[in-house]
Amino acid sequence: MSSERAFNVKMEDGLGIITFDVIGSPMNTWSEDTVTEFLELLEDLKKDETLKGLIFISGKPNAFFAGADLKLFTLLKTREETAKAISYFRNAFYEISSLRVPTMAAIQGFCVGGGLELTLACTARIAKDSKTTMLGLPECNVGLFPGAGGSQRLPRLIGYPAVDLMLNCNFLNAEKSHQIGMVDRFVPADGDLLEEAKTFLKEIISGKAQLKRPEHDFSDIDNVAEQARQKVLKKTKGRELPGRMLCIKSFQDGLKLSLEEGLKLEGEYFIDSILSDEAKGSINTFFLKNLTDKPKNMMTRGFEPKPLKKAAVLGFGTMGRGIVIDILRNMQVPVIVKDIPEALEPGKAFLRKIFDGMAEKKRLKVPVDDLMNLLTVTSEYTDDFKDVDIVVEAVFEDIKVKEEVYGELCKVVREDCLISSNTSSLPITTMSQYVTHPERFGGTHFFSPVWLMQLVEVIRGEKTSQDTVDNLLNFAASIRKRPIVCRDNPGFVVNAMLFPFLLNALQYVEEGNSIEKVDGAMTRFGMPVGPIRLTDEVGIDVPHKIFVGMGVEQKTLKNVVEDGRLGLKKSGKGFFLKDGSVDPEVLPLIAKREAKERTDEEIQTGLLTALIGVGRDLLDRQIVDDPRMIDVGMIWGTGFPSDKGGPLKWADLIGLSEKLFGKKFYKD
Ligand code: NAI
Repeated sequence: MSSERAFNVKMEDGLGIITFDVIGSPMNTWSEDTVTEFLELLEDLKKDETLKGLIFISGKPNAFFAGADLKLFTLLKTREETAKAISYFRNAFYEISSLRVPTMAAIQGFCVGGGLELTLACTARIAKDSKTTMLGLPECNVGLFPGAGGSQRLPRLIGYPAVDLMLNCNFLNAEKSHQIGMVDRFVPADGDLLEEAKTFLKEIISGKAQLKRPEHDFSDIDNVAEQARQKVLKKTKGRELPGRMLCIKSFQDGLKLSLEEGLKLEGEYFIDSILSDEAKGSINTFFLKNLTDKPKNMMTRGFEPKPLKKAAVLGFGTMGRGIVIDILRNMQVPVIVKDIPEALEPGKAFLRKIFDGMAEKKRLKVPVDDLMNLLTVTSEYTDDFKDVDIVVEAVFEDIKVKEEVYGELCKVVREDCLISSNTSSLPITTMSQYVTHPERFGGTHFFSPVWLMQLVEVIRGEKTSQDTVDNLLNFAASIRKRPIVCRDNPGFVVNAMLFPFLLNALQYVEEGNSIEKVDGAMTRFGMPVGPIRLTDEVGIDVPHKIFVGMGVEQKTLKNVVEDGRLGLKKSGKGFFLKDGSVDPEVLPLIAKREAKERTDEEIQTGLLTALIGVGRDLLDRQIVDDPRMIDVGMIWGTGFPSDKGGPLKWADLIGLSEKLFGKKFYKD
C-alpha cells in the first residue's frame, strides 16, 4: 500500500469535500486498500456532527473512477472468497447511500463500471463537459455485469433505458447523461465543477433543489427482460453467456423487490458471473487486447524505432493492395508499388473503390485524392526506391520469383532499408539468403482482407535482428495492426493451429457426421464460421496444397479440388451453394471412414484438443515464447470466441490442459 492516501478530505462550511487520487495510477480503481481507506474515512465523517453534506471529486482531470481492478476477479475461485472480495466495495457504496447527510458526485473524466456505481449510490450527480467525461457500465463486455448496485440503482433512476445501457455497454458524455437523467446537473466545459457542486449540494440541503425522481412503472418488466434476452441471444447466435444473462435476471428479479432486497439478490448473481469461465475468458481477452493495442509494449524496452517516411510494396494483387490501403490511410506517407504493367491500373482502381467506400462511412481522415496522390506505381526498380525505409513483398508464392525479386530489390534500396515478406508458407530463413544484410529481413504475415483483419504475424527468421523485429512491430503499430511475434515455422502460428483443426473436422465428416453438424458444433462453440465453411472461404486448394507439402494425404480435399471445386468465391463451386446450404454434388466426393457418430461436445472437445496440441508444440519448440501470442492470433486471426479468452486460456479454464499435459498454459 502506498503511504500516500488516495482520499483526502477538506471541510468547508459543514461540507466535506473528498478528493480521491490513487497515487501512481492513471486511473482511480477500487482495490482492497483503497476501499479500506475509504470506509475508515466514512467512519470518521459519520462521527462529525457538524457535517451537512459530502462531495466526491477526483484529483485527476481525465479520470473520475473506474471500477475494480479486473485482475482481482480472475484470482477468485470459491463462492466464499468472492463474496468477501465484492463485499468490500458493495459495502462502501451501501455506506454512502445510508449516510444521514446528502452526497454529491462531481464527475469529470472517465466514470465507468464501479466508478459510475459509486455515483449512483450518491444523492445526486453533477457532471462537467469535457472530451474525457464519459459515463458507462462496460462490465458485460468482460463477462460480468454491473453488480455493485448498478443493475438495481440505474433502472430505478432512469427506467428502462438502463437495460440497453448495461447490455450494450454504451458510454455517454456529460450532456447525454444529463438528458437521460443519469446526472442531475450539467456543467459546461468552461464551468467550475467544484463550485457548481457546492452550490447544488447547498441547494439540496436547504431544500431549494427538489430532487423528485420520476416514478418508473416496472409492471412490464418480464416482457422487457424477455425482449432483451432475445436481442442478446440473436447477437450470440443462441449462446447463453452468463454475464449478460445474469444482468437481465438481476434487474428482472430485483426490480420486483425493495432496493435493499434487490441489492442482495444482485450480489448473489454477481458472484455467479465472476465465477463463470466466460468471465475469466473475457477478462483474459481484455488483457490480450490491452497488450497488443500498443505494440510498443512488445518492443525491447527503450527501443527507438527507425522513422518510416516512405514505403514500397512489391506485388499489387490481393494482399499487396490491402497492405497499400492500410499504409496510406494510417501513415499517409509516399508509397511505391511495383508489379507488372497490366496489374497497375486495376490495382489503383481497386484502391480508389475501397477508399471511396471508407470515405462514405467517414472512416478516412484525409480526402481520397490526397491518399491516391501519395501513391506511385511502377513496373521497374526506379531511383524512387533509393530513399524507401520499408519494403513489404507480396508477390506470387513461388520461391524462384521471390529469389529474383529480392536480388533486384537489394540493388536499389539502401542497406538499412527494412524488408519484410508476406509469404504464407515459405521459410523466412530460406528467403533471407537472397537478401543482402539479412538481419534487416523478417516476415509480416497479414490476413485477408488486410484492411478489415487486425492481426499480423511478425516472423523472426534465424538471421533477423532484434532491431528488425522491433521495427516491424513499430510498422505494425503505424498501420494500426495487432501483432504477434513468432519464429519461422510452417504455417507460422495461426495457420499451423488451423491445420490439425481442419484435419480433425474432415475426419469427423468422413466418419459420417454431416458438414452441417460439424460446422454447427463449432458455431455453437462461438466460432464465426465452422471449419468446412472457413476452408471454402479461404479457397479449398490452399489447405490442400499445404497438406500435400507436409506429406499429409487428405482424401476429401483432394477429391474436391480435383473436381474443380476451389471454393464458392474462388471458382463458383465448393462445399456450399450460394444460399448457404451444402452442395449435394459434393457429398459423393467425401471419402469414407469407419462410421462414428459424434455429439456436439465431442466435436468441440476434439477440435479444441487439436488446437491446443499445436499450441503445446509451438511453445515447446519455442516458436512463440508466450501462450498469449497464440491466443491473440486465434482471436483476431480466426474469430475464436473472445469470451473463451483464446484456445489455450479456455483449455486452462475447463481443465483440459492439465488433463492432457499435466500443467496449464498460463501461470495464473
Ligand atoms: P496475387 O496473385 O493476388 O498477387 C501477386 C501479385 O504479385 C500479382 O499481381 C503479380 O503480378 C505480382 N508479381 C508477380 N511477380 C512479381 C514481380 N517479380 N514483381 C512484382 N510483382 C510481381 O497473390 P496474393 O494472394 O496477393 O499473395 C501474395 C503473397 O501473399 C504470397 O506470398 C501469398 O502466399 C501471401 N499471402 C496470401 C494470402 C491470401 O489470402 N491471398 C494471405 C496471406 C499471405
